[in-house]
Amino acid sequence: MPQYFGKLQTTEQPWSIIGAVESIDKTDRTIHFNCTNSALKISILAPNLIRVRMWPNPPQPGRARGHRPYNGGQEIQSQPPLSKGGQEIKLSPPLSKGGQGGGQSKLHSVTLPDEEWEIVPFEVRETAEKIEIETAQILISVKRDRPAIECFDKSGKPFATDCERAMGWRAGATAGWKRIETDEHFYGFGQRTGLLDKLSEVKTNWTTDSLDYNSLTDEMYQAIAFYIALNPDRAYGIFFNTTFWSQFDIGAETPGVLRMETRDTELDYYIIYGPELAQILATYTQLTGRMPIPPKWALGYHQCRWSYESEDVVRELAREFRDRSIPCDVIHLDIDYMRGYRVFTWSPKRFPDPAKLIADLKAAGFKVVTIVDPGVKYEPEADYEIFDRGVENDYFVRTADGKLFHGYVWPDKAVFPDFMKPEVREWWGELHKSLTDIGVAGIWNDMNEPAIAERPFGDGGEHIWFPLDTPQGPDDDRTTHAETHNLYGLMMAKACAQGLQKLRGDRSFVLTRSGFAGVQRYSSVWMGDNQSLWAHLEMSMPMLCNMGLSGVAFVGCDIGGFAGNATAELFARWMQVGMLYPLMRGHSAMSTAQHEPWVFGDRTEQICREYINLRYQLLPYIYTLFWEAATTGTPILRPLLYHFPRDRTTYHLYDQVLLGPSLMAAPVYRPGVEHRAVYLPEGTWYDWWTGECYHGPTHILAYAPLERMPLYVRGGGIIAIEPVQQFVEERAIDSLKMRIWPGSGEWTLYEDDGHSFEHEKGVWATTNYQVYFEGGKMIVEIAAREGEFAICDREVTVEVVGVGEQQFTDDGTVRRLIF
Ligand code: GLC
Repeated sequence: MPQYFGKLQTTEQPWSIIGAVESIDKTDRTIHFNCTNSALKISILAPNLIRVRMWPNPPQPGRARGHRPYNGGQEIQSQPPLSKGGQEIKLSPPLSKGGQGGGQSKLHSVTLPDEEWEIVPFEVRETAEKIEIETAQILISVKRDRPAIECFDKSGKPFATDCERAMGWRAGATAGWKRIETDEHFYGFGQRTGLLDKLSEVKTNWTTDSLDYNSLTDEMYQAIAFYIALNPDRAYGIFFNTTFWSQFDIGAETPGVLRMETRDTELDYYIIYGPELAQILATYTQLTGRMPIPPKWALGYHQCRWSYESEDVVRELAREFRDRSIPCDVIHLDIDYMRGYRVFTWSPKRFPDPAKLIADLKAAGFKVVTIVDPGVKYEPEADYEIFDRGVENDYFVRTADGKLFHGYVWPDKAVFPDFMKPEVREWWGELHKSLTDIGVAGIWNDMNEPAIAERPFGDGGEHIWFPLDTPQGPDDDRTTHAETHNLYGLMMAKACAQGLQKLRGDRSFVLTRSGFAGVQRYSSVWMGDNQSLWAHLEMSMPMLCNMGLSGVAFVGCDIGGFAGNATAELFARWMQVGMLYPLMRGHSAMSTAQHEPWVFGDRTEQICREYINLRYQLLPYIYTLFWEAATTGTPILRPLLYHFPRDRTTYHLYDQVLLGPSLMAAPVYRPGVEHRAVYLPEGTWYDWWTGECYHGPTHILAYAPLERMPLYVRGGGIIAIEPVQQFVEERAIDSLKMRIWPGSGEWTLYEDDGHSFEHEKGVWATTNYQVYFEGGKMIVEIAAREGEFAICDREVTVEVVGVGEQQFTDDGTVRRLIF
């Protein structure tokens, strides 16, 4: 892939740099800087959020709509076109793109339009040297002679400060340069391999089928151009608002300098001040959207394989789970359920009666999720409805010369819907009716980077994508694949989620492999084709943590590893780690050894059962974390730095993780290991298994035989636990246990019916718990239940670990318990 990419590079011309400010204009939200060779616009969208946009040589009033970037007086379009395998690449989008030099919202933007932010007060001060803008939280300063943005918090500490050259452009590219402060570390960047902190790395944003990925892989399935910069004083975030190919160089080329570059003709980014990470993510997800609360069953265990290839195999699989009392809620059907890989069909031989199969599985408590790929089999005159309708309505991608684009995927020669067109999304969404009508409860979107081979399968050949000048989108909003490549997976997931929303009366589950910033609005995400290797088990945690720090909380990796064969030991350790993944799904590839929890013998089976049981016990706690993520953008799985941002030791701590605020895991990622070092940050910590108490900051050596994944709870931690069920909706639960560890803390339990949309109308319940010491006693205060969701009186046991238990019938009224 990288050599293919090389052809996308711009010519290595010197950068033109933004010139002096000649004048400014102010509106109620925006300061326009008229510079000698460019225009700069800073919009104040919230006290901690600004948007920066820069256009090289904006059009004069009366010029055509759109903006034509210049370079040293030469229009970019007059540069020799770059070529990719003989095809021309148009570097600038067509004029229909909403630039207008003053720039309103972009047509393909995923962010909340500026006009939708409430107007907030800010002050503008002008001196001979600079222009200062002050909000309730931050100060932004722009020098007149060399416009560079400097930001300061209220105590005068700098953040997100431009380097000397600040902003610039050259043929087909714009860029910004930020200073990397001493002791600053970088997180987020969407889906990334390697460890947590991305300092000294280069991160490209271009969705790619990155199978065989490893620690050095750059382009991944997901492209999310967002990062969080943290030092012990504060954290801030930057969202690079471009759908074109873009890249961050985080001090790799020039230490101390972060370059962000895009193949777009304007520079557009947001700065989000914290100082805490929670505030950054709250604002970032206000900007790009938050996830809906998924159905509670989607938080249970999912079992998948490429493939459970026939009805008999699937029935047998379901039976095994129930016979062995291993909880499981969801069975995924991979590509072999289809007739010759034709999307929205069933193989009559292998799945003769899918409706009956799904109904029987439902009776046994299983939901069915089917895979849907974007590639539609090219099959004229064969009565393949999807192909015929798509061609008839011109729904498939055509190249610039008007030819139907085709490539090769599972069904071999295939064509691809243009999901940038609203009518195509609508059509595609409706196609799911054939699946939902027979009871399919969720959809798994795959190969949507899009992943396409240039030659028939088995014939070798590179992966390709649509030519970059391929027109995409509706006629009145036409753009090119160069601008929308990164959006293909996101738009497919959107079509799917919106279709399911209309078709099913209940909440659905959507999973996608590719996505872009804001994907959390439509879908959960898994990390694609990982491998059954200890290194991949270890890499999964920082990868998922960085996804969470990029606004995508509902994430998981294939438990056991997709490619290759896990050993019993690797599988057992992976199930322990997988119990912490927000999306807990086991999956494995064709031609690999089976990876179900029971295939490795009794000992491994027992470990799997125990940790899946633990997952099901923790569901009230985990479901509350999903609610939090849906309402505030907070990650479910968090690196320790999320809660301990002043503690430098956490900055590189990639192998321990917090599930929510209280539960910390220190899994084992190597074979034969029975002990591991664990870092406990400041505060009191309790061993989940033994109740032993520790005082941080400290390092301890944890005993971790195969049966045990070290788990700790913070003092004052409150964790809701329910009895194990074999599937989430097995029975009405009439008891709840609140486990509380001595200390002071607070936590709010969230509940609703777990499957309908009633919670959107206020039919939910929250109960706030507070715990503290008073006069040598532990006090537990339970506030009156809020919300309209009715909960039958139930037995609640409050256990203060190591102290004692009290029981009461929970009727939702206030209580004060003394221990
Ligand atoms: C891709 C997916 C994988 C799936 C396979 C067959 O490799 O990433 O999860 O099993 O295709 O559909």
